[in-house]
Amino acid sequence: MASLEPAERPRIAGQQVLAGIQPSGIQHLGNYFGAVRQFIALQEGNRAAYFMADLHSLTSIRDAKRRRELTHAVALDFLALGVDPKRSVLYRQSDFPEVTELAWILTTVTPMGLLQRCVSYKDKLEQGLKPDHGLFAYPVLQAADILIWRADCVPVGQDQKQHLEVTRDVAVKFNRTFCQDFDPQTGEGGVLVLPEPYILEEVAAIPGIDGRKMSKTVQNGIEMFAPEKALRRQIMGIVTDSKGVEAAKDPETSTIFQLYSLFANPEERAAMEQAFRKGGLGYGDAKQALYEKVLAYFADARAKRRELESRPDTVEDILRDGAARARAATAELMHEVRAAAGVGPPR
Ligand code: TRP
Repeated sequence: MASLEPAERPRIAGQQVLAGIQPSGIQHLGNYFGAVRQFIALQEGNRAAYFMADLHSLTSIRDAKRRRELTHAVALDFLALGVDPKRSVLYRQSDFPEVTELAWILTTVTPMGLLQRCVSYKDKLEQGLKPDHGLFAYPVLQAADILIWRADCVPVGQDQKQHLEVTRDVAVKFNRTFCQDFDPQTGEGGVLVLPEPYILEEVAAIPGIDGRKMSKTVQNGIEMFAPEKALRRQIMGIVTDSKGVEAAKDPETSTIFQLYSLFANPEERAAMEQAFRKGGLGYGDAKQALYEKVLAYFADARAKRRELESRPDTVEDILRDGAARARAATAELMHEVRAAAGVGPPR
């Protein structure tokens, strides 16, 4: 049976790790290899907190029922793929109200220009989202997610790098504004700590069924937790050229071969490569081989997820416990923030 062990070892230790996933679609192989697999690995030797960013998803999804379903689905994915709720803190963003309190405090020290420069905001407008305040202030809520944990390490994709820069700028702004002893040179004397991005390995290496980068918005994904029939249909839908069974094929440009390489051992990969070059292997058979690999690789996780699906109360208990632990772990930071800013009861 294939294991879910990540290929690479985490390079960091002893840190506070924090990451969120926005429940804006069903997760696919790109999300797994690009993010979640590395979240799982980072649990080892670090303190990790992971959450479903349901408040962020308010900026793009307006269907309440769908948000609940997607949020629950991300929780199941996390748990099935190996987030260990005993070791790590797993929570739903909206169960942790101090985050929104901090977001408001931060928003009062966030320059408009900083947000106006955000590429993801401009991208979302281009995709047709309306320019409302939530979409504009999105990076400030993300800064609160991160800063409330005094996170050292934030594993994110390349597209989130700018949001991490905003987070650092906002932290400095807060410290300069409210902390008398803050020294911007050394960073000492501030309440908020500057996080480092941990840029995840390039997800672009994972092509979708149309050959473009696998993405929730383009709907070209292969969803590792889809029912078998649907999963097979997605894989059979991988776009190929029209070469017949006997024709020699180019593995390098083949989406099937690239995806197969993620799961196969070196010998299997070499055998598939050779069969492509020699001819005699039809695309249909190659897709079938890929399908079997995906099923085997995720067999344990799929079983675990099905089991969790039948116990929604257990999942809710885990999330409730996660939120309670998150609030306890960050209470001191919130005291310091309130004291510095002069809000809340004096102490
Ligand atoms: N904006 C992130 C994304 O779309 C999701 C997110 C929200 C996040 N808050 C976060 C990621 C805090 C890391 C840390 O991928």
